[in-house]
Amino acid sequence: MDIKLLYEPLNRVAADALAVVVFEDVFEDGETFAIDSAAVKTWLAELKASGEFTGKPGESAVLYNPRELAAKRLIVVGVGKRAKFDHAGLRRTAGSVVRTWKQKGIKTLAWSLKGASAASVANATEVSVEGAILGDYETDVHKTTKESKSLEAFHVVCDAANPAIQQAFERGRILAEAQNFTRELANEPANRLTPMVLADRARAMAAEFGLACDVLDQDRMTQLGMGSLLGVAMGSTEPPALIIIRYTPANTSSSKDHLALIGKGVTFDSGGISIKPAEGMEKMKYDMAGGAAVLGAMRAIAQLKPSLPVTAFVPAVENMVSGKAQRPGDIVKSLDGKTVEVLNTDAEGRLILIDAITYAKRLGCTHLVDAATLTGAIVVALGSVNIGAFTNDDAMLARVMAASKAEGEKMWQMPLDDDYKDLLKSPFADLANIGGRWGGAISAAWFLKEFADPTPWVHLDIAGTAWLDESKPFLAKGPTGVCVRTFVKLAESWE
Ligand code: BES
Ligand code: ZN
Ligand code: ZN
Repeated sequence: MDIKLLYEPLNRVAADALAVVVFEDVFEDGETFAIDSAAVKTWLAELKASGEFTGKPGESAVLYNPRELAAKRLIVVGVGKRAKFDHAGLRRTAGSVVRTWKQKGIKTLAWSLKGASAASVANATEVSVEGAILGDYETDVHKTTKESKSLEAFHVVCDAANPAIQQAFERGRILAEAQNFTRELANEPANRLTPMVLADRARAMAAEFGLACDVLDQDRMTQLGMGSLLGVAMGSTEPPALIIIRYTPANTSSSKDHLALIGKGVTFDSGGISIKPAEGMEKMKYDMAGGAAVLGAMRAIAQLKPSLPVTAFVPAVENMVSGKAQRPGDIVKSLDGKTVEVLNTDAEGRLILIDAITYAKRLGCTHLVDAATLTGAIVVALGSVNIGAFTNDDAMLARVMAASKAEGEKMWQMPLDDDYKDLLKSPFADLANIGGRWGGAISAAWFLKEFADPTPWVHLDIAGTAWLDESKPFLAKGPTGVCVRTFVKLAESWE
């Protein structure tokens, strides 16, 4: 898609459609959108008088071949009251307009931000570009005849050029492309995306964007003693990999902080011997969405160049059933040295994450964040709206929460009191890998905490938020790319 900034008068913008956002309260006051056209003004006055369009969210109206305008259509899009509208709303509106109109066959869409206040025009540019690129993305790569159409050009029209707008435009593009990269990986079926293929994709991305990449293979992990990760991989003929990608800033600040982004990379989760029910099992191809988010974030970080060193860790395995598979009751020794009794082979995410967490600490990371499609219990608790956030350090969580708020990715803090710790007791090993029926997302997080402590750490359970079961007006069905924006913002805003 060709995306660019234009500074022309709206009358001269040539496009299949020119879209303007309409606030309900401003429309009431007789807004004319900086469009210098008597015909358009008359149309708007008639539209208002008709009462058929008032600027409420979801409303739109179209004027075809407006006289005095170069665009073939003028689309006015209602977004409700000005005070209630925010950047998340604008991101969604841009996505919705793109998805609606590309499907009708429109190829070039101009997006007016004329008249936006100087304070918000850069941000508005960023989220508009982002929303458009995210909205244009479809999960139909493997369909040989496509049902969906795509946009050829999205042009943002502003009042006047300035460096802040140009920079925001670039950030929007970089972030959206990174999220689509994540969505593409998470959408790949497990026959096409094995742990080794994921490692290859990560390597290619790192090479393209100038990041260092190191992939630990099975032998290396055996030497190191990553028994917990390797136990999960045993049932699959596909070898595991621990993908490590390093971003080193050119201008190293005096701070010694080093952020680790750790993402669960289970390319398929059958449950292992504790096998999952058949219904819905196909969805478990997205059990590497946390790993994909971490890789997407690194792709953007490489381009936006924050001043904090960031290293990504993606333990990648396939959790399968076979004569070689790990059994319930098996006891494995983690890299940390603690032993774990595997009571349920379907609680595999935590088993691979603990060895990655320990390794990140060994490599000198001072702050840890992990993203994982870890538990069905978090879906029961929070649905598909909020990410479940857990921490051993409230200051660290405050940083992550501030980043997520700025980027419009919702999170809700979950408890990790000491009272939950006993759930993981095992009579035969240091820990059991499950904590019983109730509070499943919390016992899973407690398991990770046993290995993250005392390093400041935040765990994000994205089982409910990494996949859309039904498409939204602004986003295709399937992987969402959640956490990419929060991770990038976290690195950028680190002080
Ligand atoms: N990958 C699943 C969690 C999951 C569930 C992700 C639904 C996305 C949607 C994870 O490995 C798992 O199977 N967890 C078990 C843990 C249980 C055995 C303690 C679960 O949540 O049922
Ligand atoms: Zn599982
Ligand atoms: Zn899993």
